[in-house]
Amino acid sequence: MSRAYNFCAGPAALPTDVLEQARQEMLDYQGMGLSIMEMSHRDKVFVEIAERAEQDLRDLMGISEDYAVLFLQGGASTQFAMVPMNLLGEGQTADYINTGQWSKKAIKEAGRYGNINVAASSEDTNFTTVPPQDSWQLSANPAYVHYCPNETIGGLEYSFIPEVGDSPLVADMSSTILSRPIDVNRFGLIYAGAQKNIGPAGLTLVIVRKDLLGKAGAHVPAMLNYQTHADNGSMYNTPPTYAWYLAGLVFQWLKKQGGVANMAETNQRKAEKLYGFIDNSGFYSNPVETISRSWMNVPFVLADANLDKQFLSEADKAGLLNLKGHRSVGGMRASIYNAVPEAAVDTLIAFMADFEKRNG
Ligand SMILES: Cc1ncc(COP(=O)(O)O)c(C=O)c1O
Repeated sequence: MSRAYNFCAGPAALPTDVLEQARQEMLDYQGMGLSIMEMSHRDKVFVEIAERAEQDLRDLMGISEDYAVLFLQGGASTQFAMVPMNLLGEGQTADYINTGQWSKKAIKEAGRYGNINVAASSEDTNFTTVPPQDSWQLSANPAYVHYCPNETIGGLEYSFIPEVGDSPLVADMSSTILSRPIDVNRFGLIYAGAQKNIGPAGLTLVIVRKDLLGKAGAHVPAMLNYQTHADNGSMYNTPPTYAWYLAGLVFQWLKKQGGVANMAETNQRKAEKLYGFIDNSGFYSNPVETISRSWMNVPFVLADANLDKQFLSEADKAGLLNLKGHRSVGGMRASIYNAVPEAAVDTLIAFMADFEKRNG
């Protein structure tokens, strides 16, 4: 068996050790004669798996008991609606920062539920910069301030956590969660689709400060009310049990790697190598301002876009998969999440250098 290097933006590479363990446990989980997929979510064995996953995540991120951790479905896109449905009261305004395609989607969706103030935008630089915090036009008393710390498509990552006073800070961390330590206490709510740094698609993680629960109006469906899920340990209905189990294995793997601080060191080194190579080449380029370059998603273009197809086809043959940029921006993108080893980045750089030599 040979595993290729997978640079997909999501669903993304999972640690091979995790997949191996899942394979071993697939047919007969710990001698029970059935798979976790076939087990009731109320079974004591599954409840233990679920609780351990939550505890491991709490340990990894330093999440205190002031926060509920919810294992939901519907992807980060459902959170674009759930956040305002739960936190944006009648007559209130929510502030949003627009730094790319995912912020834009969040803003558009939130607009269905109430007043939205776009407090800052970097659309004028084609989302290659993060608007400096002192330029933000925040409302007097916003229900919350929403931002996307890492824009997966543009490869733009905030180098700071915004300062928003007493307003709850809400973050779409889909593509940066667990890539480095963060101070959860700075946030009112964090959400993330699992399919990048957490586990397989189908699971969505929400970390919400408990004082923000119970604010949804009576018209909000039970399934879209955070309170429902917090009250029921994310088992109000049937949760995505297998994805939850796999996320738990990823959390255990992260602990074995020395936790998020160790991951951050490796991630920074991986990203610096790749950006360094791109910047030193006359053939590849990345437009994002240096301080805001993503550690997780590295978009780049070739000097001649006519070579894109050839680049992708040769990369595929070399076992370097899913380097095509998002359909909305073109070019290339290497997503180098936690489970993408440093050797993958080294191999990619060697391939890029060779391609440039032959075609530059
Ligand atoms: C930053 C960000 N937000 C939201 C989404 C949408 O997530 P989902 O497909 O889980 O709804 C993505 C997906 O790639 C993303 O990268």
